[in-house]
Amino acid sequence: MSLVLLYQKFDLFYSADILNTGISNVSSICFLPIFANFSDCNIIIYSMASIRIAVIGLGYVGLPLARLFATKYPVVGFDINQKRVNEINHGIDHTLEVEEQMLQNSLISQNQVHTGIKGLFCSFHQEDIKECNFYIVTVPTPVDKNNRPDLTPLLKASETVGRVVSRGDIVVYESTVYPGATEEDCIPVIEKVSGLKYNVDFFAGYSPERINPGDKEHTVEKIKKVTSGSTTDVAEIVDATYNSVIQAGTYKASSIRVAEAAKVIENSQRDINIAFVNELAKIFNAMKIDTHDVLEAAATKWNFLRFQPGLVGGHCIGVDPYYLAQKAQEAGYHPEIILAGRRMNDSMGKYVATEVVKLMIRNEIPVKSAKILLLGITFKENCPDIRNTKATDIYYELISYGIEVDIFDPWASPEEVKHEYGISIITDMNETVNYGAVILAVAHREFMSVDFERFKARGAILYDVKGILPFELVNARL
Ligand SMILES: NC(=O)c1ccc[n+]([C@@H]2O[C@H](COP(=O)([O-])OP(=O)(O)OC[C@H]3O[C@@H](n4cnc5c(N)ncnc54)[C@H](O)[C@@H]3O)[C@@H](O)[C@H]2O)c1
Repeated sequence: MSLVLLYQKFDLFYSADILNTGISNVSSICFLPIFANFSDCNIIIYSMASIRIAVIGLGYVGLPLARLFATKYPVVGFDINQKRVNEINHGIDHTLEVEEQMLQNSLISQNQVHTGIKGLFCSFHQEDIKECNFYIVTVPTPVDKNNRPDLTPLLKASETVGRVVSRGDIVVYESTVYPGATEEDCIPVIEKVSGLKYNVDFFAGYSPERINPGDKEHTVEKIKKVTSGSTTDVAEIVDATYNSVIQAGTYKASSIRVAEAAKVIENSQRDINIAFVNELAKIFNAMKIDTHDVLEAAATKWNFLRFQPGLVGGHCIGVDPYYLAQKAQEAGYHPEIILAGRRMNDSMGKYVATEVVKLMIRNEIPVKSAKILLLGITFKENCPDIRNTKATDIYYELISYGIEVDIFDPWASPEEVKHEYGISIITDMNETVNYGAVILAVAHREFMSVDFERFKARGAILYDVKGILPFELVNARL
Protein backbone atom coordinates (compact mmCIF):
# COMPACT_ATOMS: atom_id res chain seq x y z
CA MET A 1 0.00 0.00 0.00
CA SER A 2 1.48 3.36 -0.91
CA LEU A 3 1.09 6.02 1.68
CA VAL A 4 0.63 9.68 1.00
CA LEU A 5 1.88 12.42 3.24
CA LEU A 6 -0.74 14.24 5.26
CA TYR A 7 0.01 15.64 8.63
CA GLN A 8 -1.77 18.20 10.67
CA LYS A 9 -0.40 19.30 13.93
CA PHE A 10 -2.89 19.26 16.82
CA ASP A 11 -5.35 17.65 14.53
CA LEU A 12 -4.08 14.16 14.34
CA PHE A 13 -4.91 11.18 16.47
CA TYR A 14 -3.03 7.98 16.40
CA SER A 15 -3.40 4.86 18.39
CA ALA A 16 -1.02 4.03 21.19
CA ASP A 17 0.02 1.05 19.06
CA ILE A 18 1.91 3.30 16.72
CA LEU A 19 4.28 4.16 19.52
CA ASN A 20 5.29 0.53 19.71
CA THR A 21 5.83 -0.05 16.02
CA GLY A 22 9.16 1.72 15.66
CA ILE A 23 7.61 4.20 13.28
CA SER A 24 8.85 7.51 14.57
CA ASN A 25 7.98 9.84 11.73
CA VAL A 26 4.22 10.06 11.96
CA SER A 27 4.07 12.68 9.27
CA SER A 28 5.28 10.22 6.70
CA ILE A 29 2.23 8.06 7.09
CA CYS A 30 -1.14 8.84 5.81
CA PHE A 31 -4.40 7.60 4.47
CA LEU A 32 -7.20 8.94 2.47
CA PRO A 33 -10.14 7.65 4.40
CA ILE A 34 -10.33 9.25 7.81
CA PHE A 35 -9.37 6.02 9.30
CA ALA A 36 -6.77 3.43 8.35
CA ASN A 37 -6.20 0.15 10.08
CA PHE A 38 -3.06 -1.62 8.92
CA SER A 39 -3.36 -5.18 10.02
CA ASP A 40 0.40 -5.74 10.30
CA CYS A 41 1.02 -3.08 12.92
CA ASN A 42 -2.57 -2.07 13.66
CA ILE A 43 -2.01 1.62 13.15
CA ILE A 44 -4.98 3.91 13.27
CA ILE A 45 -4.48 7.42 12.03
CA TYR A 46 -7.21 9.95 11.89
CA SER A 47 -7.37 13.49 10.73
CA MET A 48 -10.13 15.86 11.78
CA ALA A 49 -9.63 17.73 8.52
CA SER A 50 -10.80 14.77 6.47
CA ILE A 51 -14.08 14.16 8.28
CA ARG A 52 -17.08 14.05 5.98
CA ILE A 53 -20.27 13.65 7.94
CA ALA A 54 -23.60 12.11 6.93
CA VAL A 55 -26.57 12.61 9.23
CA ILE A 56 -29.27 10.03 8.53
CA GLY A 57 -32.74 11.17 9.65
CA LEU A 58 -33.37 14.92 9.64
CA GLY A 59 -35.99 15.26 12.36
CA TYR A 60 -36.03 17.11 15.68
CA VAL A 61 -32.63 15.60 16.50
CA GLY A 62 -30.92 15.18 13.15
CA LEU A 63 -31.40 18.62 11.63
CA PRO A 64 -30.02 20.72 14.53
CA LEU A 65 -27.08 18.33 14.77
CA ALA A 66 -26.37 18.41 11.02
CA ARG A 67 -26.58 22.21 11.06
CA LEU A 68 -24.16 22.37 13.97
CA PHE A 69 -21.61 20.02 12.39
CA ALA A 70 -21.90 21.98 9.15
CA THR A 71 -20.30 24.98 10.87
CA LYS A 72 -17.04 23.01 10.77
CA TYR A 73 -17.36 20.09 8.37
CA PRO A 74 -18.87 19.13 5.05
CA VAL A 75 -22.17 17.50 6.01
CA VAL A 76 -24.78 15.66 3.98
CA GLY A 77 -28.16 15.41 5.64
CA PHE A 78 -30.06 12.38 4.38
CA ASP A 79 -33.75 11.61 4.90
CA ILE A 80 -36.17 9.27 3.15
CA ASN A 81 -38.89 11.92 3.46
CA GLN A 82 -38.52 13.90 0.22
CA LYS A 83 -40.93 16.60 1.37
CA ARG A 84 -38.83 17.19 4.49
CA VAL A 85 -35.62 17.37 2.43
CA ASN A 86 -37.17 19.81 -0.04
CA GLU A 87 -38.45 22.02 2.77
CA ILE A 88 -35.05 22.07 4.47
CA ASN A 89 -33.37 22.93 1.18
CA HIS A 90 -35.70 25.95 1.05
CA GLY A 91 -34.62 26.94 4.55
CA ILE A 92 -37.81 25.73 6.21
CA ASP A 93 -37.78 23.62 9.35
CA HIS A 94 -41.38 22.85 10.33
CA THR A 95 -40.17 21.46 13.67
CA LEU A 96 -39.03 25.04 14.47
CA GLU A 97 -35.81 23.71 16.02
CA VAL A 98 -33.52 25.56 13.59
CA GLU A 99 -34.23 29.21 12.81
CA GLU A 100 -34.75 29.99 9.14
CA GLN A 101 -31.79 32.38 8.87
CA MET A 102 -29.46 30.01 10.68
CA LEU A 103 -30.52 27.16 8.41
CA GLN A 104 -30.15 29.29 5.27
CA ASN A 105 -26.65 30.29 6.36
CA SER A 106 -25.53 26.70 6.73
CA LEU A 107 -27.03 25.34 3.49
CA ILE A 108 -24.95 24.73 0.39
CA SER A 109 -26.58 23.99 -2.94
CA GLN A 110 -24.17 21.29 -4.05
CA ASN A 111 -22.77 18.22 -2.41
CA GLN A 112 -19.31 19.30 -1.25
CA VAL A 113 -18.13 16.24 0.65
CA HIS A 114 -15.49 15.45 -1.92
CA THR A 115 -14.05 19.00 -1.80
CA GLY A 116 -14.07 19.23 1.99
CA ILE A 117 -15.91 22.57 1.95
CA LYS A 118 -17.96 22.96 5.11
CA GLY A 119 -21.72 23.38 4.95
CA LEU A 120 -24.94 21.39 4.91
CA PHE A 121 -26.27 19.70 1.81
CA CYS A 122 -29.52 17.74 2.16
CA SER A 123 -30.65 14.91 -0.02
CA PHE A 124 -32.92 11.88 -0.30
CA HIS A 125 -30.51 10.14 -2.68
CA GLN A 126 -28.38 7.48 -1.07
CA GLU A 127 -25.47 8.08 -3.46
CA ASP A 128 -24.99 11.51 -1.89
CA ILE A 129 -23.70 10.00 1.34
CA LYS A 130 -21.35 7.52 -0.30
CA GLU A 131 -18.31 9.78 0.01
CA CYS A 132 -18.90 10.37 3.70
CA ASN A 133 -16.81 8.62 6.33
CA PHE A 134 -18.54 9.52 9.61
CA TYR A 135 -22.18 8.39 9.62
CA ILE A 136 -24.57 9.56 12.33
CA VAL A 137 -27.94 7.83 12.61
CA THR A 138 -30.78 9.89 14.09
CA VAL A 139 -33.94 8.07 13.02
CA PRO A 140 -36.99 7.48 15.26
CA THR A 141 -37.21 4.63 17.77
CA PRO A 142 -40.94 4.24 18.45
CA VAL A 143 -42.91 1.45 20.12
CA ASP A 144 -45.59 -0.64 18.44
CA LYS A 145 -49.22 -0.81 19.54
CA ASN A 146 -48.26 -3.26 22.28
CA ASN A 147 -45.55 -0.91 23.56
CA ARG A 148 -42.75 -3.12 22.26
CA PRO A 149 -39.66 -1.42 20.76
CA ASP A 150 -39.99 -1.01 17.02
CA LEU A 151 -36.48 -1.00 15.56
CA THR A 152 -37.68 -0.88 11.94
CA PRO A 153 -36.43 2.67 11.16
CA LEU A 154 -33.11 1.93 12.86
CA LEU A 155 -32.61 -1.33 10.94
CA LYS A 156 -33.60 0.31 7.65
CA ALA A 157 -31.14 3.14 8.29
CA SER A 158 -28.49 0.52 9.09
CA GLU A 159 -29.19 -1.11 5.71
CA THR A 160 -28.64 2.29 4.09
CA VAL A 161 -25.35 2.65 5.92
CA GLY A 162 -24.40 -0.88 4.89
CA ARG A 163 -24.81 0.08 1.24
CA VAL A 164 -22.51 3.11 1.48
CA VAL A 165 -20.00 2.42 4.26
CA SER A 166 -16.34 1.96 3.31
CA ARG A 167 -13.23 0.67 5.03
CA GLY A 168 -12.15 2.87 7.91
CA ASP A 169 -15.52 4.58 8.36
CA ILE A 170 -17.22 5.20 11.69
CA VAL A 171 -20.98 4.83 12.27
CA VAL A 172 -22.41 6.60 15.31
CA TYR A 173 -25.94 5.95 16.52
CA GLU A 174 -27.80 8.70 18.37
CA SER A 175 -31.34 7.29 18.51
CA THR A 176 -32.51 6.29 21.97
CA VAL A 177 -32.34 2.51 22.36
CA TYR A 178 -31.86 -0.19 24.99
CA PRO A 179 -28.36 -1.26 25.99
CA GLY A 180 -27.00 -3.58 23.32
CA ALA A 181 -29.12 -2.38 20.38
CA THR A 182 -26.20 -0.82 18.49
CA GLU A 183 -23.91 -3.81 18.58
CA GLU A 184 -26.47 -6.64 18.71
CA ASP A 185 -29.14 -5.34 16.33
CA CYS A 186 -27.72 -2.63 14.07
CA ILE A 187 -24.09 -3.56 13.44
CA PRO A 188 -24.93 -7.09 12.14
CA VAL A 189 -27.17 -5.43 9.52
CA ILE A 190 -24.32 -3.19 8.36
CA GLU A 191 -21.96 -6.17 8.27
CA LYS A 192 -24.44 -8.25 6.27
CA VAL A 193 -25.23 -5.56 3.70
CA SER A 194 -21.68 -4.23 3.30
CA GLY A 195 -19.74 -7.47 3.63
CA LEU A 196 -17.35 -5.55 5.90
CA LYS A 197 -16.29 -6.71 9.33
CA TYR A 198 -17.04 -4.76 12.49
CA ASN A 199 -14.02 -3.38 14.32
CA VAL A 200 -11.76 -4.53 11.53
CA ASP A 201 -13.11 -2.70 8.47
CA PHE A 202 -15.52 -0.25 10.02
CA PHE A 203 -16.16 1.01 13.53
CA ALA A 204 -19.04 2.29 15.61
CA GLY A 205 -19.99 4.70 18.34
CA TYR A 206 -23.04 5.72 20.30
CA SER A 207 -23.74 9.27 21.37
CA PRO A 208 -27.24 9.80 22.75
CA GLU A 209 -29.10 12.94 21.90
CA ARG A 210 -30.38 15.03 24.81
CA ILE A 211 -32.14 17.91 23.12
CA ASN A 212 -35.45 19.10 24.44
CA PRO A 213 -37.81 20.16 21.62
CA GLY A 214 -39.00 23.75 21.86
CA ASP A 215 -36.25 24.66 24.34
CA LYS A 216 -34.34 27.61 22.92
CA GLU A 217 -31.99 27.77 25.89
CA HIS A 218 -30.66 24.20 25.99
CA THR A 219 -29.79 23.86 22.33
CA VAL A 220 -27.67 20.97 21.04
CA GLU A 221 -24.30 22.71 21.41
CA LYS A 222 -25.08 23.76 24.99
CA ILE A 223 -25.81 20.27 26.32
CA LYS A 224 -22.94 18.07 27.45
CA LYS A 225 -22.78 15.09 25.12
CA VAL A 226 -22.06 11.50 26.13
CA THR A 227 -19.91 9.71 23.58
CA SER A 228 -18.53 6.20 23.16
CA GLY A 229 -16.75 4.04 20.63
CA SER A 230 -16.30 0.42 19.68
CA THR A 231 -12.56 0.50 20.53
CA THR A 232 -10.51 2.78 22.75
CA ASP A 233 -9.17 4.67 19.74
CA VAL A 234 -12.55 5.00 18.11
CA ALA A 235 -14.03 6.29 21.38
CA GLU A 236 -11.30 8.95 21.36
CA ILE A 237 -12.09 9.93 17.79
CA VAL A 238 -15.86 10.03 18.29
CA ASP A 239 -15.37 12.11 21.41
CA ALA A 240 -13.00 14.54 19.70
CA THR A 241 -15.36 14.94 16.75
CA TYR A 242 -18.32 15.86 18.94
CA ASN A 243 -16.13 17.93 21.23
CA SER A 244 -15.11 20.07 18.27
CA VAL A 245 -18.67 21.45 17.99
CA ILE A 246 -20.35 20.93 21.37
CA GLN A 247 -19.59 24.00 23.49
CA ALA A 248 -20.69 22.28 26.68
CA GLY A 249 -18.11 19.55 26.13
CA THR A 250 -18.36 15.79 26.06
CA TYR A 251 -18.23 12.86 28.43
CA LYS A 252 -16.58 9.71 27.14
CA ALA A 253 -18.47 6.68 28.45
CA SER A 254 -16.59 3.44 29.00
CA SER A 255 -18.49 1.54 26.31
CA ILE A 256 -21.29 1.78 23.78
CA ARG A 257 -23.61 -0.22 26.08
CA VAL A 258 -22.91 2.15 28.99
CA ALA A 259 -23.75 5.16 26.80
CA GLU A 260 -26.95 3.48 25.58
CA ALA A 261 -27.97 2.64 29.15
CA ALA A 262 -27.18 6.16 30.39
CA LYS A 263 -29.56 7.72 27.89
CA VAL A 264 -32.44 5.35 28.44
CA ILE A 265 -32.29 5.77 32.22
CA GLU A 266 -32.29 9.58 31.99
CA ASN A 267 -35.75 9.47 30.48
CA SER A 268 -36.94 6.52 32.58
CA GLN A 269 -35.95 8.35 35.75
CA ARG A 270 -37.94 11.38 34.69
CA ASP A 271 -40.93 9.21 33.83
CA ILE A 272 -40.89 7.55 37.25
CA ASN A 273 -40.53 10.84 39.09
CA ILE A 274 -43.50 12.30 37.24
CA ALA A 275 -45.48 9.11 37.87
CA PHE A 276 -44.89 9.57 41.60
CA VAL A 277 -46.31 13.10 41.61
CA ASN A 278 -49.16 11.99 39.39
CA GLU A 279 -50.00 9.39 42.02
CA LEU A 280 -49.76 12.10 44.68
CA ALA A 281 -52.14 14.25 42.64
CA LYS A 282 -54.72 11.45 42.64
CA ILE A 283 -54.29 10.88 46.38
CA PHE A 284 -54.46 14.55 47.35
CA ASN A 285 -57.35 15.18 45.04
CA ALA A 286 -59.30 12.42 46.81
CA MET A 287 -58.35 14.11 50.11
CA LYS A 288 -59.27 17.59 48.81
CA ILE A 289 -55.73 18.90 49.27
CA ASP A 290 -54.16 21.00 46.54
CA THR A 291 -51.16 19.09 45.17
CA HIS A 292 -49.34 22.19 43.96
CA ASP A 293 -49.52 23.71 47.43
CA VAL A 294 -48.09 20.50 48.88
CA LEU A 295 -45.26 20.42 46.34
CA GLU A 296 -44.43 24.03 47.01
CA ALA A 297 -44.19 23.42 50.73
CA ALA A 298 -42.16 20.21 50.31
CA ALA A 299 -39.77 21.89 47.87
CA THR A 300 -38.48 24.10 50.67
CA LYS A 301 -36.31 21.14 51.68
CA TRP A 302 -32.99 21.21 49.81
CA ASN A 303 -33.15 17.65 48.53
CA PHE A 304 -36.82 17.47 47.52
CA LEU A 305 -37.12 16.92 43.76
CA ARG A 306 -39.70 19.27 42.34
CA PHE A 307 -41.61 17.47 39.62
CA GLN A 308 -45.09 18.52 38.53
CA PRO A 309 -48.05 16.26 37.81
CA GLY A 310 -49.20 16.10 34.20
CA LEU A 311 -49.58 14.19 30.97
CA VAL A 312 -46.45 12.38 29.80
CA GLY A 313 -46.48 12.24 26.02
CA GLY A 314 -44.04 12.65 23.18
CA HIS A 315 -41.77 9.98 21.86
CA CYS A 316 -39.03 10.14 24.48
CA ILE A 317 -40.09 10.01 28.12
CA GLY A 318 -43.29 8.11 27.41
CA VAL A 319 -41.57 5.61 25.12
CA ASP A 320 -37.98 5.02 26.21
CA PRO A 321 -38.83 3.19 29.46
CA TYR A 322 -40.46 0.47 27.33
CA TYR A 323 -37.10 -0.06 25.63
CA LEU A 324 -35.41 -0.59 28.98
CA ALA A 325 -38.27 -2.78 30.21
CA GLN A 326 -38.07 -5.02 27.14
CA LYS A 327 -34.35 -5.57 27.53
CA ALA A 328 -34.74 -6.19 31.26
CA GLN A 329 -37.31 -8.89 30.51
CA GLU A 330 -35.00 -10.49 27.97
CA ALA A 331 -32.37 -10.56 30.68
CA GLY A 332 -34.84 -12.39 32.94
CA TYR A 333 -35.89 -9.50 35.15
CA HIS A 334 -39.43 -8.19 35.21
CA PRO A 335 -39.25 -4.45 35.94
CA GLU A 336 -41.71 -3.38 38.63
CA ILE A 337 -41.18 0.33 39.09
CA ILE A 338 -40.51 1.23 35.47
CA LEU A 339 -43.73 -0.33 34.18
CA ALA A 340 -45.79 0.89 37.14
CA GLY A 341 -44.61 4.41 36.31
CA ARG A 342 -45.66 3.96 32.70
CA ARG A 343 -49.11 2.70 33.71
CA MET A 344 -49.60 5.62 36.10
CA ASN A 345 -48.58 8.24 33.54
CA ASP A 346 -50.65 6.65 30.79
CA SER A 347 -53.73 6.81 33.02
CA MET A 348 -53.66 10.58 33.47
CA GLY A 349 -55.60 11.66 30.36
CA LYS A 350 -58.55 9.48 31.27
CA TYR A 351 -58.30 10.65 34.88
CA VAL A 352 -58.48 14.32 33.88
CA ALA A 353 -61.50 13.70 31.64
CA THR A 354 -63.31 11.82 34.40
CA GLU A 355 -62.60 14.57 36.92
CA VAL A 356 -64.01 17.18 34.54
CA VAL A 357 -67.17 15.14 33.97
CA LYS A 358 -67.64 14.74 37.74
CA LEU A 359 -67.28 18.50 38.17
CA MET A 360 -69.85 19.12 35.46
CA ILE A 361 -72.32 16.74 37.11
CA ARG A 362 -71.75 18.34 40.52
CA ASN A 363 -72.36 21.75 38.97
CA GLU A 364 -75.51 20.53 37.21
CA ILE A 365 -74.10 20.94 33.73
CA PRO A 366 -75.69 18.34 31.42
CA VAL A 367 -72.94 16.01 30.21
CA LYS A 368 -74.49 14.33 27.21
CA SER A 369 -74.16 16.59 24.15
CA ALA A 370 -72.24 19.18 26.18
CA LYS A 371 -69.44 21.09 24.43
CA ILE A 372 -65.98 21.19 25.93
CA LEU A 373 -62.99 23.23 24.80
CA LEU A 374 -59.64 21.47 25.05
CA LEU A 375 -56.73 23.91 24.89
CA GLY A 376 -53.65 22.26 23.46
CA ILE A 377 -52.96 19.03 21.62
CA THR A 378 -49.17 19.05 21.19
CA PHE A 379 -47.29 16.78 23.58
CA LYS A 380 -45.70 19.77 25.31
CA GLU A 381 -45.78 23.55 25.47
CA ASN A 382 -44.50 25.93 22.79
CA CYS A 383 -43.62 23.13 20.39
CA PRO A 384 -45.47 21.82 17.31
CA ASP A 385 -44.76 18.14 18.03
CA ILE A 386 -47.99 16.12 18.28
CA ARG A 387 -46.44 12.65 18.31
CA ASN A 388 -47.73 10.41 21.10
CA THR A 389 -49.56 13.32 22.69
CA LYS A 390 -51.67 12.36 25.68
CA ALA A 391 -54.06 15.29 25.25
CA THR A 392 -55.86 12.93 22.88
CA ASP A 393 -56.56 10.58 25.82
CA ILE A 394 -58.61 13.40 27.38
CA TYR A 395 -60.38 13.90 24.06
CA TYR A 396 -61.25 10.22 23.52
CA GLU A 397 -62.51 9.79 27.06
CA LEU A 398 -64.74 12.88 26.79
CA ILE A 399 -66.28 11.86 23.49
CA SER A 400 -67.03 8.44 24.97
CA TYR A 401 -69.51 10.30 27.24
CA GLY A 402 -71.23 11.77 24.18
CA ILE A 403 -69.52 15.13 24.70
CA GLU A 404 -68.55 17.28 21.74
CA VAL A 405 -64.96 18.49 22.05
CA ASP A 406 -63.38 21.47 20.31
CA ILE A 407 -59.60 21.35 20.31
CA PHE A 408 -57.69 24.58 19.81
CA ASP A 409 -53.92 24.69 19.52
CA PRO A 410 -52.07 27.56 17.84
CA TRP A 411 -48.90 25.42 17.58
CA ALA A 412 -50.31 22.27 16.01
CA SER A 413 -50.81 21.82 12.28
CA PRO A 414 -54.51 20.98 11.68
CA GLU A 415 -53.51 18.82 8.69
CA GLU A 416 -51.01 16.86 10.75
CA VAL A 417 -53.54 16.31 13.56
CA LYS A 418 -56.10 15.13 11.02
CA HIS A 419 -53.57 12.83 9.39
CA GLU A 420 -52.18 11.41 12.65
CA TYR A 421 -55.37 11.12 14.73
CA GLY A 422 -58.28 11.71 12.35
CA ILE A 423 -59.34 14.66 14.54
CA SER A 424 -60.34 18.05 13.09
CA ILE A 425 -59.18 20.87 15.31
CA ILE A 426 -60.62 24.38 15.31
CA THR A 427 -58.37 27.17 14.09
CA ASP A 428 -60.07 30.05 15.87
CA MET A 429 -61.03 30.11 19.48
CA ASN A 430 -64.35 31.74 20.25
CA GLU A 431 -64.68 32.97 23.83
CA THR A 432 -68.39 33.56 23.39
CA VAL A 433 -69.30 29.87 22.87
CA ASN A 434 -71.14 28.33 25.83
CA TYR A 435 -68.74 25.55 26.74
CA GLY A 436 -69.63 23.21 29.58
CA ALA A 437 -65.96 23.08 30.47
CA VAL A 438 -62.62 24.45 29.33
CA ILE A 439 -59.57 22.29 29.93
CA LEU A 440 -56.10 23.80 29.74
CA ALA A 441 -54.05 20.77 28.71
CA VAL A 442 -50.86 22.36 27.34
CA ALA A 443 -49.13 25.48 28.69
CA HIS A 444 -48.53 27.30 25.39
CA ARG A 445 -47.58 30.90 26.04
CA GLU A 446 -50.53 32.06 23.86
CA PHE A 447 -52.97 30.56 26.37
CA MET A 448 -51.77 32.95 29.07
CA SER A 449 -53.73 35.75 27.40
CA VAL A 450 -56.99 33.81 27.01
CA ASP A 451 -59.90 35.46 28.80
CA PHE A 452 -60.83 32.51 31.01
CA GLU A 453 -63.13 34.73 33.10
CA ARG A 454 -65.35 35.07 30.04
CA PHE A 455 -65.76 31.32 29.69
CA LYS A 456 -66.43 31.05 33.39
CA ALA A 457 -69.02 33.80 33.25
CA ARG A 458 -70.84 31.71 30.62
CA GLY A 459 -71.00 28.79 33.00
CA ALA A 460 -67.93 26.78 32.00
CA ILE A 461 -65.99 24.63 34.46
CA LEU A 462 -62.28 25.53 34.26
CA TYR A 463 -59.80 22.68 34.70
CA ASP A 464 -56.08 23.41 34.73
CA VAL A 465 -53.95 20.35 33.93
CA LYS A 466 -50.71 22.33 34.10
CA GLY A 467 -51.33 24.26 37.30
CA ILE A 468 -50.41 27.59 35.75
CA LEU A 469 -53.65 29.59 36.06
CA PRO A 470 -54.54 31.49 39.23
CA PHE A 471 -55.88 28.99 41.74
CA GLU A 472 -58.91 31.20 42.55
CA LEU A 473 -59.88 31.30 38.88
CA VAL A 474 -60.13 27.57 38.20
CA ASN A 475 -62.58 24.98 39.50
CA ALA A 476 -59.87 22.36 39.81
CA ARG A 477 -56.34 21.57 38.81
CA LEU A 478 -54.35 18.38 38.59
N1 LIG B 1 -37.02 14.78 19.75
C1 LIG B 1 -36.45 14.67 20.92
O1 LIG B 1 -36.74 15.39 21.85
C2 LIG B 1 -35.38 13.67 21.19
C3 LIG B 1 -34.48 13.93 22.21
C4 LIG B 1 -33.50 13.01 22.47
C5 LIG B 1 -33.45 11.85 21.73
N2 LIG B 1 -34.35 11.61 20.75
C6 LIG B 1 -34.24 10.38 19.99
O2 LIG B 1 -33.68 10.68 18.73
C7 LIG B 1 -34.21 9.84 17.72
C8 LIG B 1 -34.81 10.69 16.61
O3 LIG B 1 -35.88 11.44 17.14
P1 LIG B 1 -36.51 12.66 16.36
O4 LIG B 1 -37.39 13.35 17.35
O5 LIG B 1 -35.47 13.47 15.68
O6 LIG B 1 -37.38 11.90 15.29
P2 LIG B 1 -38.18 12.56 14.06
O7 LIG B 1 -39.34 11.69 13.81
O8 LIG B 1 -38.38 14.01 14.31
O9 LIG B 1 -37.17 12.47 12.86
C9 LIG B 1 -36.69 11.31 12.32
C10 LIG B 1 -36.41 11.54 10.84
O10 LIG B 1 -35.83 10.33 10.38
C11 LIG B 1 -36.36 10.09 9.08
N3 LIG B 1 -36.20 8.66 8.81
C12 LIG B 1 -36.93 7.63 9.26
N4 LIG B 1 -36.43 6.48 8.78
C13 LIG B 1 -35.36 6.79 8.03
C14 LIG B 1 -34.43 6.05 7.28
N5 LIG B 1 -34.49 4.72 7.22
N6 LIG B 1 -33.46 6.70 6.60
C15 LIG B 1 -33.39 8.05 6.66
N7 LIG B 1 -34.24 8.81 7.34
C16 LIG B 1 -35.21 8.19 8.03
C17 LIG B 1 -37.79 10.55 9.15
O11 LIG B 1 -38.28 10.82 7.85
C18 LIG B 1 -37.65 11.81 10.02
O12 LIG B 1 -37.47 12.97 9.24
C19 LIG B 1 -35.21 8.94 18.44
O13 LIG B 1 -34.58 7.75 18.81
C20 LIG B 1 -35.56 9.71 19.67
O14 LIG B 1 -35.97 8.88 20.73
C21 LIG B 1 -35.30 12.51 20.44
